[in-house]
Amino acid sequence: MIPKYNLMILLIAALLSITTTDLMAQQDSLLLNHPEIFLNRQRPPVTFPHNRHVEGGPSCKDCHHQYKNGENSLDESTLQEGNPEIRCSACHHSRSGIHLREAFHYQCLSCHKKNEKERKKTGPRFCGGCHLWN
Ligand code: HEC
Ligand code: HEC
Ligand code: HEC
Ligand code: HEC
Repeated sequence: MIPKYNLMILLIAALLSITTTDLMAQQDSLLLNHPEIFLNRQRPPVTFPHNRHVEGGPSCKDCHHQYKNGENSLDESTLQEGNPEIRCSACHHSRSGIHLREAFHYQCLSCHKKNEKERKKTGPRFCGGCHLWN
């Protein structure tokens, strides 16, 4: 007979493996969460379905950029998972220039609103559509 605690371990292992598989399946979604910048959070973090935003639509440089003389001269080969320099927060964090909240809001919302106007498929325009309490 299996002792009770062994059964517990088996159960926990099973639960963990389910969670891991779920995470793998959702790797195409990024959690946009910057508690180090937004010290007194007013809204929950935002799940961003990255793959869905790339499929058949915009190019990488529509969202990712590095400006030189007003031109987006980003080298797309730097767009690698884990590269800290491509994070929006790498540049949009200080009080000068565009703060991180505005960087996200402006980029996300200008596209969602534009698509809505053009009666195309689009994403949320209202706070609760992106900032979801789970
Ligand atoms: C609709 C806007 C948009 C498009 C189009 C887009 N991205 Fe992104 N991407 C983002 C945002 C926003 C992030 C999150 C950045 C952050 O965490 O600061 C991101 C993050 C990433 C990351 C980092 C993932 C990680 O976890 O380290 C990679 C790599 C990446 N994008 C590659 C690409 C490539 C390659 C393309 C083109 C095929 C592309 N992206 C197109 C908005 C976009
Ligand atoms: C390498 C630095 C860098 C990174 C990384 C970066 N930005 Fe920017 N971004 C800039 C600069 C420089 C400007 C020009 C305006 C300014 O801040 O003076 C700018 C401008 C913008 C603007 C104004 C409209 C436009 O496109 O010109 C938005 C919105 C924006 N960034 C959002 C984002 C988002 C969202 C990300 C992540 C996906 C991101 N930025 C990543 C440097 C960066
Ligand atoms: C270049 C245009 C563009 C930009 C930039 C953009 N989106 Fe979207 N977004 C879309 C479109 C188009 C859809 C609808 C996709 C679909 O239905 O397949 C969408 C859908 C969504 C959805 C809904 C997905 C679902 O499951 O219904 C969310 C959430 C979302 N976007 C969040 C964001 C966030 C957060 C950002 C900024 C980091 C962002 N989007 C930037 C075009 C954009
Ligand atoms: C299209 C998606 C989207 C919509 C719609 C949106 N936001 Fe955001 N917002 C974001 C993202 C992405 C961030 C960055 C979150 C992070 O990195 O922690 C953010 C950050 C914030 C922050 C800073 C972090 C915090 O919690 O203090 C506030 C405040 C905020 N949003 C309020 C709002 C309000 C109010 C509305 C409605 C008027 C709204 N947002 C609509 C995507 C969105």
